[in-house]
Amino acid sequence: MKHFTCLLLLLLILITSFSSAYSTIVSHDDRAITIDGQRRILISGSIHYPRSTADMWPNLISKAKDGGLDAIETYVFWNVHEPVRRQYDFSGNLDLVRFIKTIQDKGLYSVLRIGPYVCAEWNYGGFPVWLHNMPNMEFRTVNSGFMNEMQNFTTKIVEMMKKEKLFASQGGPIILAQIENEYGNVISSYGAEGKAYVDWCANMANSLDIGVPWLMCQQPNAPQPMIETCNGFYCDQYKQTNPTSPKIWTENWTGWFKNWGGRHPYRTAEDLAYSVARFFQTGGTFQNYYMYHGGTNFGRVAGGPYITTSYDYHAPLDEYGNVNQPKWGHLKELHTLLKSMEKPLTYGNISTVDLGNSVTATVYSTNEGSSCFIGNVNATANALVNFQGNDYSVPAWSVSVLPDCKKEAYNTAKVNTQTSIMTEVPSKPEKLEWTWRPEFARKTILKGSGDLIAKGLVDQKDITNDASDYLWYMTRVHLDKKDPIWSRNMSLQIHSNAHVLHAYVNGRYVGHKIVQDEKFNYIFEKKVNLLHGTNHISLLSVSVGLQNYGPFFGSGPTGINGPVKLVGYKGEETIEKDLSEHQWNYKIGLNGFDQKLFTTNSVGHHHLKWSPEKLPANPMLTWYKANFKAPLGKDPVIVDFNGLGKGEAWINGQSIGRYWPSFNSSDDGCSDECDYRGEYGSGKCAFMCGKPTQRWYHVPRGFLNESGYNTITLFEEMGGNPSMVNFKTVVTGTVCARTYEHNKLELTCNNRPISAVKFASFGNPSGHCGSFAVGTCEGAMDATKVVAKECVGKVNCTMNVTSHKFGSTLECGDSPKRLFVELEC
Ligand code: GAL
Repeated sequence: MKHFTCLLLLLLILITSFSSAYSTIVSHDDRAITIDGQRRILISGSIHYPRSTADMWPNLISKAKDGGLDAIETYVFWNVHEPVRRQYDFSGNLDLVRFIKTIQDKGLYSVLRIGPYVCAEWNYGGFPVWLHNMPNMEFRTVNSGFMNEMQNFTTKIVEMMKKEKLFASQGGPIILAQIENEYGNVISSYGAEGKAYVDWCANMANSLDIGVPWLMCQQPNAPQPMIETCNGFYCDQYKQTNPTSPKIWTENWTGWFKNWGGRHPYRTAEDLAYSVARFFQTGGTFQNYYMYHGGTNFGRVAGGPYITTSYDYHAPLDEYGNVNQPKWGHLKELHTLLKSMEKPLTYGNISTVDLGNSVTATVYSTNEGSSCFIGNVNATANALVNFQGNDYSVPAWSVSVLPDCKKEAYNTAKVNTQTSIMTEVPSKPEKLEWTWRPEFARKTILKGSGDLIAKGLVDQKDITNDASDYLWYMTRVHLDKKDPIWSRNMSLQIHSNAHVLHAYVNGRYVGHKIVQDEKFNYIFEKKVNLLHGTNHISLLSVSVGLQNYGPFFGSGPTGINGPVKLVGYKGEETIEKDLSEHQWNYKIGLNGFDQKLFTTNSVGHHHLKWSPEKLPANPMLTWYKANFKAPLGKDPVIVDFNGLGKGEAWINGQSIGRYWPSFNSSDDGCSDECDYRGEYGSGKCAFMCGKPTQRWYHVPRGFLNESGYNTITLFEEMGGNPSMVNFKTVVTGTVCARTYEHNKLELTCNNRPISAVKFASFGNPSGHCGSFAVGTCEGAMDATKVVAKECVGKVNCTMNVTSHKFGSTLECGDSPKRLFVELEC
């Protein structure tokens, strides 16, 4: 018996040591996520794989790791993986397994937010439109059809991950998974079924047995064992409703997304760092940046309505994958410190000291030592405080980090990292030779011939399944001479939800309407000339991304929902003829798209050839094509669409997204100066007012042939002029820094040499990058010469910012000295 017990024990030890060599045990307690039994401080960042190309992933993930991240978080995007029910696509930049393996190869963890409702400013929140078109369908509630499909897709993803051993429990990088997304924000709209649905989600997820914890973000009282989490610009005030959940922040919004017609959002490095430091000061242990790299909405994945093609988000890595400085570097410094404080932060006793005027010190102490934060949440008043016998100056809206509770190692408002100002460089003077051809919609416009006939007006997504942005609604109306409608003043009146509407009567263009200021439901009315006899009415409804957020977001109207009327005005009298219940012909999508005009080999293969003749004056509904050479080198490539109207663009057959440079952002609401202090919101510190919402479009190198020719194809809907379209690369143009004394300053033009020092002063200089000025005192040495000697001609340089290096600053007195530098790349 004794022998048997010993043998059993040995076997058990063998099994556990064998499995622990291959797997990681991820769990949690009320304080933190634990990995192999150890509480951890985890810093994570969202990178959505389809918003970049597979060849960009290793570089993006390396930069994330270098920036101090432990994990990469991504959603999984159902609509692109299952575009047709039970037909799956995981190819190219949809190769989720490859993405997770790339994370693993780089030695990072991963957080898989399966959703499969994801929002993410993604088309239809990530739901495929066929789902909506299933009988008796209702999203995100107790509905058997919906639950069945959701379970099918979630299981598919889980099985895929399991097969490749990607969960930490199998030795893979995935430490956490998420089901649903922010359902708590909308649950009240679903009545009692809402709660039943959340319970079902939890049970379903649980039954998939993934061996790592599940998250439910913005889900107070999440059914156990789901972990509830917080999303927002700040989560320091967040309190878990469930006492066994650790304080987890799944989305720290690093900036914001952009709408067509909207301004360019900007969240400062100081404020973002402040939000992170406050979170850890108040007991947080897991924090994820949403987004760490935002990237690009290629194709038609942008949600909406009206989300732009760029999803830059003002994230630490910019749309093209460059480090966005000073954000990236300022956070990296903070991450290094937080990691160095992991033990006290996760195991220490927490005590707080109120220092007055909204200043609080927090002490995390263990037997081995303590770490401290001093947070000043006052939005205007700087603080001078005495804490444990030492004086600290804590600027308004900032947090000082003291890893040993004695010396300030970091303050969120004191940025020592360089600011990089990116610039666009023309690739090589290359005048594009355009050929063109019309969309060839004459038959549609003149005769109203389509592919489908229905009585009455049909909702756009119901009929297109979202296969295209474009849907033609066409009808005819016979008016005899005696029709009471006849008058000198007759108009066509359309009650519409089309994001863009173009109207034709008897082959003539009547006009268009573009939704502005989020007025998605409107009445379009234009005077028209009608004929005795048959009149053809052809309306083109254009959608610009399907709604992605809100209760019942999936059932909102799209397209022309009517009524559509002819109206005759006769003095006081108005006579209406309602056409809504007429027979309507429908044509889904573009002829040119069906003929694959965007592919490289489409030249000359079609009924109507591409014409090299001089372009007619800015026609609407026109296809353009040109060849070009890829800009040399490795710098990211962009294309300047200034001069174009609206449409979609393809490079070698791959869609780089919708374009709309003719849509300017509103004229006001921008600020020259951005005060990081006080609460950030998506409208604060915006810039680029009165300019095209998006002028430059990312052309990933992965879409280009390095040698030989590449083809760009445009579908121009609005009648823009392509003659100014040109390709550029994005490089660092100017570098500035405003470093504090006793710091080490690192300067780099990235992969280009530093060419000149435009400004340098050590003392009390002032101003902003581009307008720096010498202050009342300076170090004894010529700072410009010192910096030039260290930096000019080099790709990067490092300096200690001390009077030893820059000369005595006696005349500056006791106040802290700073070094301001502006470099030309
Ligand atoms: C959250 C949502 C994210 C994203 C974010 C805003 O509510 O969970 O998917 O939409 O807002 O960018």
